[in-house]
Amino acid sequence: MKWSISTKLFLVLVAISIATVTAMGLSARISFTRGFIGYLNDQSTAYVESVIPRLAEAYESEGSWEFLYHNPRAWYRLLDTRVRRDGPPQFSEVDFAAVQLRMTLLDADKEVVIGNRDLTPGVPMRPINADGKTVGWLALVPYQQATATADVRFQQRQLKQNWLIGLGTVLLAALAAWWLSRLLVTPLTRIASATHNLASGDYTVRIPVTSKDEIGGLSEDFNRLAQALAHNEQLRRSFMADVSHELRTPLSVLKGELEAIEDGVRTMTPETLASLQSEVATLSKLVSDLYDLSLSDIGALSYRMADVDIAEVLQSTLAAFQQRLAERGLKVETQIDAPVIVNGDEGRLQQLFNNLIENCARYTQTDGTVQVACRNIDGEVLIEVADSGPGVPADILPRVFERFVRAEASRNRSHGGAGLGLAICANIVHAHGGTITATAAPLGGLLIGIRLPQQRTLKV
Ligand SMILES: Nc1ncnc2c1ncn2[C@@H]1O[C@H](COP(=O)(O)OP(=O)(O)OP(=O)(O)O)[C@@H](O)[C@H]1O
Ligand SMILES: [Mg+2]
Repeated sequence: MKWSISTKLFLVLVAISIATVTAMGLSARISFTRGFIGYLNDQSTAYVESVIPRLAEAYESEGSWEFLYHNPRAWYRLLDTRVRRDGPPQFSEVDFAAVQLRMTLLDADKEVVIGNRDLTPGVPMRPINADGKTVGWLALVPYQQATATADVRFQQRQLKQNWLIGLGTVLLAALAAWWLSRLLVTPLTRIASATHNLASGDYTVRIPVTSKDEIGGLSEDFNRLAQALAHNEQLRRSFMADVSHELRTPLSVLKGELEAIEDGVRTMTPETLASLQSEVATLSKLVSDLYDLSLSDIGALSYRMADVDIAEVLQSTLAAFQQRLAERGLKVETQIDAPVIVNGDEGRLQQLFNNLIENCARYTQTDGTVQVACRNIDGEVLIEVADSGPGVPADILPRVFERFVRAEASRNRSHGGAGLGLAICANIVHAHGGTITATAAPLGGLLIGIRLPQQRTLKV
């Protein structure tokens, strides 16, 4: 059976209340019978003990019980009561247990002489001994029996009262359940319906945060989640648009050139072929960069970490670029400690430096300077790649690590790339637990600063 939270709350509250009322009723009853009636019975027994010698004495002086037949006055006098001429007997002590009214005197043959006649078999009796033999019996009708009818009436009244209390309790429980469900269930329902909308793709849903409790916290988290999803969705869309745009450009150039050759407008010369090759090279670099990015998005899983001497990797990268840098008249200044060991993936680190030096070779003005530094500082490795300009405009600087971001959108395609290189660099550095920053270099160009921990902290 499917019960709503309100129903469950209501049932639990009713059950608790009913259990409490029952327990209280029972304990009241038990303490009444055990405590109060027990006390009265003890008092009665003591009183009975005190009466027996007086009865024996009276029997000895009168010679029989004859004087007591139909003589309540004498009976009550014997029981130490003051007698009023008009009206009921009045006891010298406060007789809570009505013990004098419950006592019965029987003769030696257990025939009633005087007293309470509601005797039932099994009523406790005590012998009265005089002249060395048992001359009579004193019985005490039990308190419970004497008050049986009153007891029933009391019980009935209590039952009626319990019903009333029970009814009141159920009403209270219903009220409490209604209030609690308003407090708990209403916001939950709101969150549930918002989640439903979110799941079906509506990222604009937000939940009003009305409280500072757990539900308020949950609502805040939900709103953050929806915001993150909306942001990611926007990123995904712009990324797809960028990717298809980047792919379309070299493809349409290729297509145009091939059509021109097909129509005989262009002849197949080595130059045409080289141009086609270069478009294909652009395409394949783009595709492999995208693949790299998607790999590093998955995380450090595709990284094979080992101790790597970064200084060595940097030196070999610089050596590979030496000719290209020299062709552009770029002077290289290095300040590289040796060795600089970090825990990393050598291939990825090589890729990182390739991208950085490639950018310098590409974008630094001819006859400029490229500075490369690599130092050990307090358990960290600091790598800096800087050049003499022109650098990146200040408004682009904070975004250079985003995908497809280029300083000049109109930059000649043969000169610039797709804008993925630095995004890949950032991913590689983050996968090594490090940080990467882009600032203006003292020489006037771009300064890329990288800090890598020597002992890699695991990043999930
Ligand atoms: N050393 C630099 N000097 C001046 N501008 C730079 C330098 N390095 C990067 N940039 C600017 O930052 C942009 C982003 O660089 P990034 O390496 O991410 O992409 P890219 O070089 O354009 O293309 P890719 O590296 O994917 O082939 C570049 O387009 C360029 O405008
Ligand atoms: Mg680049």
